[in-house]
Amino acid sequence: MVLCGDGSAAKHKRSSFDYRKGVILKRIAILISGRGSNMKALLRAGLPAQICVVISNDPAASGLDTARLHGVPTAVVDHRSFRQRKDFDTALAKTIDTHRAELVVLAGFMRILTADFVNRYQGRLINIHPSLLPAFPGLHTHRQALAAGARIHGCTVHFVTPELDHGPIIIQAAVPVLPDDDESTLAARVLAEEHRVYPQAIRWLCEGRVVQAADGRVQIIGARTGRTTLISPEPDA
Ligand code: GRF
Repeated sequence: MVLCGDGSAAKHKRSSFDYRKGVILKRIAILISGRGSNMKALLRAGLPAQICVVISNDPAASGLDTARLHGVPTAVVDHRSFRQRKDFDTALAKTIDTHRAELVVLAGFMRILTADFVNRYQGRLINIHPSLLPAFPGLHTHRQALAAGARIHGCTVHFVTPELDHGPIIIQAAVPVLPDDDESTLAARVLAEEHRVYPQAIRWLCEGRVVQAADGRVQIIGARTGRTTLISPEPDA
């Protein structure tokens, strides 16, 4: 995985981490398939970067309108126009590269990407997944969490690797699962946290503060260590 650190990493260097010098990522492509609420959170976050294009695989994605309202260029690469997944991915890469995007942000992008595509953007392809990975990869994560009787659920921002929903983790947020939750109430609670952690993760990347150890794990230079414990249900006082 390529690093996204900059020269400032050197002054924070710790021996157990390999701070290979990377680039500060400034031009961002956001890939969506639907409403694009995470995209909207990113557009409103005042990131030190340029969202150079929002790309959807579905021409009907309502997030495209939101992007246009924010004055962001949009593009559609309709997966239904391609017989083979690899051809869709080639067209997608061409669109990303035409806009000279350095960082590719998946925000509710509902297509499985080929290993070739993932490897092409290695270290600069990021996803948000609505579960606390490695728990509940794949689809219907809130349903999975409820069915498993999980008491704590959440979301994860991670680098994308060829193995689905398995890449190095950048940031996670946890929420309680409440006794009367259904999929939609739980999804809404998680989504509110997605809108907090995704802009934070991308900001760290833009600032060159996301680095990876030789073992693949991510460290955020200068991030405060979370010390709040979430216990669900709460213990008796
Ligand atoms: C989010 O829950 C995201 O984690 C998942 O798909 C959903 C997309 O929502 N990958 P939105 O399009 O960002 O509103």
